[in-house]
Amino acid sequence: MKIVHAASEAFPYMKTGGLADAVGAMAGALADKGHDVAVFLPGYRAALAHPDAAQAERKLRLKIEMGNDFIAGDVRVFSPRKNLRVFLICREEYFDRSAPYGNGERDYEDNADRFIFFCKGVVETLRLADLQADVVHAHDWQAALLPLLVREAERRHNVTLALKTIFTIHNIAYQGLFPAPTFARTNLPDELNNIDGLEYYSQINLMKGGILFADRVTTVSPRYAQEIQTPEFGCGLDGVAQTRADDIVGLLNGVDAAVWNPAIDALLPARYSSANMAGKQVCRAELLKRCGFAANYSGPIYGMVARFTEQKGVNLVLENRNFFLSAECRLVVLGSGDKALEDAMHAFTAEAPQKISLSARLDEAMSHLIEAGSDFFLMPSRFEPCGLNQMYSQVYGTVPIVSRVGGLADTVIDLDEQPATGTGLMCAPTAVGLRAAMQRAQTLFVDRRRYSAAQQRGMARDFGWATAAKGYEKLYSDSL
Ligand code: ADP
Ligand code: GLC
Repeated sequence: MKIVHAASEAFPYMKTGGLADAVGAMAGALADKGHDVAVFLPGYRAALAHPDAAQAERKLRLKIEMGNDFIAGDVRVFSPRKNLRVFLICREEYFDRSAPYGNGERDYEDNADRFIFFCKGVVETLRLADLQADVVHAHDWQAALLPLLVREAERRHNVTLALKTIFTIHNIAYQGLFPAPTFARTNLPDELNNIDGLEYYSQINLMKGGILFADRVTTVSPRYAQEIQTPEFGCGLDGVAQTRADDIVGLLNGVDAAVWNPAIDALLPARYSSANMAGKQVCRAELLKRCGFAANYSGPIYGMVARFTEQKGVNLVLENRNFFLSAECRLVVLGSGDKALEDAMHAFTAEAPQKISLSARLDEAMSHLIEAGSDFFLMPSRFEPCGLNQMYSQVYGTVPIVSRVGGLADTVIDLDEQPATGTGLMCAPTAVGLRAAMQRAQTLFVDRRRYSAAQQRGMARDFGWATAAKGYEKLYSDSL
């Protein structure tokens, strides 16, 4: 099949979170199965500076209609591996910036234009380069206009650009909500600017368009497919999601074993496997050293790697201040984002720098070291569409502590509920719930037999992309 992915992130060219890992790995897995895969990304500064892009050729010049303007750009293409091409939709004014969505506190003011331009650039490339896609697969709000724009371009130019469109919701909390006049920039027919179209409480909502107009909609875990249809998790789009109930399917993300595998992980000071865990001790020692903690510490280390947002339950960790200060434990946090959360976490580490550490930056190597060197991994998310770190934890022999929501509930087996198969600890997404789970963790850690059995079971689980790739293949080839 000819499969076109469009997203605002794909590892290794642009990453702020799991979207990048998921899109990069999904595209790679489908390419490995012999499909002809194209991944479209905005031509960010970082993507163009990536060594793979050094051989990029300029494929097309674009002149994109946006409202009454025509905006120029170009398309560059390179092929990082067999069956995979990366198309960068470039326009310096939009994408030659240091970050993809905003500067620290605020989103860029021209984000609507930037991502509408991106989607239109994808459609123009499909048409002008005659890509003959079987499937156009759009991810999250930044690409959510594609299903509509593809059909609109087909109507206008009397051509077929894609047999099928798929829209994947990686996170319904980010919807691409913009002021009403933004609609004009889409050049879509006015009849789409109403309650059955993009209009949403007097604004326009790009994700709503993806949900309503894609041929099929997917979420990144089965449980999240149900959750988004409820007021508690739907972020105001639950009613919209319900209208597509028959067309929504949840396909669990996998782990890219070329990137997240302790046996070959070049970012670690030592490698290990379930058969020989010695390397994990080396990683643990390195982690203690990097945090400035005493080298002879032998109690449990709790790791956390997360974007600092409401979603990730950083405040639940902060609310458990007393636990971390009084219990025998170490806490290692890697994360940045919300300024207030960062400040609060900094203040917390200052209370006990000998046992709590925060690295408030993006640091790929440190994220691997925390997965490998910790004993427990904290992920007390309020909601979690899939979540990757809890899977990485299991693969790295680190016992995850997660809240019972979304993909976390789908991928972790609670040790007390299922003693024979358990791989982690589950809790309610509250401060009290998290504390109870950490108390269970303290007890588990000293029961070495039970702890290492949980590690071994986690490491034996198969989180490979093969299952998800099969699910997508079926979705792409099923008749509508
Ligand atoms: P989300 O996409 O909601 O952020 P996921 O668990 O799906 O959550 O994926 C998060 C990804 O981002 C993981 O690969 C994680 O290691 C990475 N990550 C998050 N914060 C950082 C950071 N500060 N430095 C490096 N990697 C990070
Ligand atoms: C989003 C979600 C996360 C998911 C990732 C990849 O960022 O927040 O739960 O794992 O997308 O699908």
